[in-house]
Amino acid sequence: MEVVLLPTPEDCGRVVADAVAGSVLDAVARGGPVVLGLATGSSPLLAYRELLRRREEGLGFTGVQAFLLDEYVGLPAGHPESYREVIRRELTDALGLDPAVVHGPDGAASDPLQAARDYEQLLLSAGPVAVQVLGIGANGHLGFNEPGSSLASRTRVKTLTEQTRSDNARFFGGDVAAVPRHVITQGLGTILGARHLVLVATGEAKAAAVAAALEGPLTASCPGSVLQLHPHVTAVVDEAAGSRLARAEHYRYVLSHKLEEQGW
Ligand code: F6R
Repeated sequence: MEVVLLPTPEDCGRVVADAVAGSVLDAVARGGPVVLGLATGSSPLLAYRELLRRREEGLGFTGVQAFLLDEYVGLPAGHPESYREVIRRELTDALGLDPAVVHGPDGAASDPLQAARDYEQLLLSAGPVAVQVLGIGANGHLGFNEPGSSLASRTRVKTLTEQTRSDNARFFGGDVAAVPRHVITQGLGTILGARHLVLVATGEAKAAAVAAALEGPLTASCPGSVLQLHPHVTAVVDEAAGSRLARAEHYRYVLSHKLEEQGW
């Protein structure tokens, strides 16, 4: 795992965009499908803006398919806060991706349990995901795998904690009651199937979760700790989110001595 500690959220956005662009180019070079795994929420937004800027400069996304990590259950299709709409608005329309190649779990399905199984199958048949962008919850959740989620889980319906519902109320005009209780989320085992995982976390509110995920024990009590099982993780955090990392000095040392050919 590479932990990249940077001064500001903007610096994090640039490095995440570098890592994503590098993995996309790598996947293109391998031939076959190029699958981009996308998180929603506020953490990746600066990286997405940076990717859009790079597209203006010529970075190509032709032939790319995108898969979302998760979706709320029960919001009608087209609801502005459904993750499918959010990602369309924030990234994929401007990247020039046809909505037909941007996939997400069907949270409006009459049978969400089946919709979760179908999404897992679709992802397995299209994958592997070349690069998966991830945020982390203040309680350590990854995707919407809340504490206690199996480290081997596959895509399924889960129930949000009250903490996550209240953290996400800001997207619903501050109204916690409007935040759905259930979600369909890729499982932690599903997420581990991506070739490259790129975590981005900024701000003091994430500091405890970041330290537990990156340096704590491997445990379902901190779903983010599953990152420690993956062979290629780039964890990009600003100074505030990294403020509780015990090995911060070492990460800075490694970064300042990084060999160019090591890439991300
Ligand atoms: C979003 C997702 C979540 C968020 C996490 C952090 O698709 O899967 O795990 O990444 O809740 O959210 P923000 O970035 O809004 O702090």
